[in-house]
Amino acid sequence: MPFYHKLGKIPHKRHTIFKKPDGSLYREQLFGTIGFDGMSTNSYHEHHPTQVKEILGHKDVTPKIAVNTNLKSYKFHGFKTIPQPDYLDSRSTVLHNDDVNIILAAPTQSLHDYFYKNADADELLFVHKGKGKLRTHLGNLDFDYGDYLLIPRGIIYKIDFETEDNRLFIVESRRPIYTPKRYRNHFGQLLEHAPFCERDLRQPYELETNDEKGDFLIKVKKENQLFDMVYATHPFDVVGYDGYNYPYAFSIHDFEPITGRIHQPPPVHQTFETDAFVVCSFCPRLFDYHPESIPAPYNHSNIDSDEVLYYVDGDFMSRNDIEAGHISLHPAGIPHGPHPGAVERSIGQTKTEELAVMVDTFKPLKITEEGMAIADDSYHKSWLEDKH
Ligand SMILES: [Fe+2]
Repeated sequence: MPFYHKLGKIPHKRHTIFKKPDGSLYREQLFGTIGFDGMSTNSYHEHHPTQVKEILGHKDVTPKIAVNTNLKSYKFHGFKTIPQPDYLDSRSTVLHNDDVNIILAAPTQSLHDYFYKNADADELLFVHKGKGKLRTHLGNLDFDYGDYLLIPRGIIYKIDFETEDNRLFIVESRRPIYTPKRYRNHFGQLLEHAPFCERDLRQPYELETNDEKGDFLIKVKKENQLFDMVYATHPFDVVGYDGYNYPYAFSIHDFEPITGRIHQPPPVHQTFETDAFVVCSFCPRLFDYHPESIPAPYNHSNIDSDEVLYYVDGDFMSRNDIEAGHISLHPAGIPHGPHPGAVERSIGQTKTEELAVMVDTFKPLKITEEGMAIADDSYHKSWLEDKH
C-alpha cells in the first residue's frame, strides 16, 4: 500500500519503551518487505509474536498439473466449482505458473477453527458473491460484491461471511502486488489521470486486541505446504501500528473507466501490477464515440502473455456463450478476438454493462486437474465462422 496508515495506539518514537497500564511492556514487531527496503509496518503486541508452541505437521497443496504446455484457448465453468464449508478446502487452483495461482473458491462458512497466513504470496481476493468481514491482525475490512481485497504475504487473517452463497476469484501471487507505478507521482500519490484515487482504497478500520494465552492454530502456507502451527498467544493481539504494509480493499465499482473516440487498449483498464502479471478491471462504460468507431476489440496477438478473463456480470459484448462465473484463457502465441458476429453487433452501441476481471501473465499458464474438470474443451474452435 503506497501510503501511510496508523491504527490504535503507538508510542511517540519507534523502538522506545511503550508501557501497558500495569507497567509491563508492549512488544514491538517490524513487519518488513523486500528485506528492509520495501514497505513495512511497526506493530505493538500484548505478547511477543514469536511464541511457537508446536508445528504439528503439514499438508501438500501443490497444484496437480494436467496440461503442462498449452496452445489452446479454453473456457472454464467457474460456478461448477463445488461449494465447501471450509475456506481453505474450498480453494481450487485452476491455472498455475511459478509466479501465480488462479484460484476459485466457494466457501459456505466463515473461517472459525484456525487462522490463516500465506507466507509465500500476496493474495488478491475478488468478491464475486458474498458479504462479510475480513479480519486480520492489522485490523478489519468489510467486504461486499465487487470488492478486491489485497492481503500482503504474512498477514494473519480470518474471514467472516454473512452469506452462504460465496464466490471468490483469487489471484495468489509470488510477486508483490502494487497499484500501477505510472499512476503514481514521485512521492507515491495517485495522479489525476489514474482511474482511482486514495479515497477509493479502504484501509483497515477496526483493530481486535485479544490478550489471551492458550493454543492458537495458524495454518501457514509455505512452499506449497500447509503447516499447522500452534501459537501460545492470540494472533490478533495488536494494540496499534503504523506504516505502509497492511491489507486494503478496493471496489471494482469505484474504478473510473477511461474511454476514447476509438477503441482503447487493455492497459486503460489496469488496476494492479506486478513484474509477472497485471490485473485489469473491465467496468460498465460509454463506448467509443467516433461516428464510425467499432466498439468491439480488434483481433490481437498477445504474443508475450497468457490472458485470463473472469466474467463477473452484465453482457459480454465480444463473446458468444459466455456467462457470469466463466473464465476464458487465451494463451500467448496465437491471435484471438471477438467472436463471429460480435463486431457487427457492437457497431452503433453506445455503452456496455460488462464487468470482468482480467489477469495477463507474462509466463505461460499450466492447467490443473481441477481446471480441466470444469473446462470446455471445444472453446478453441468457437471463432470458426463455418462450423461445418
Ligand atoms: Fe484479449
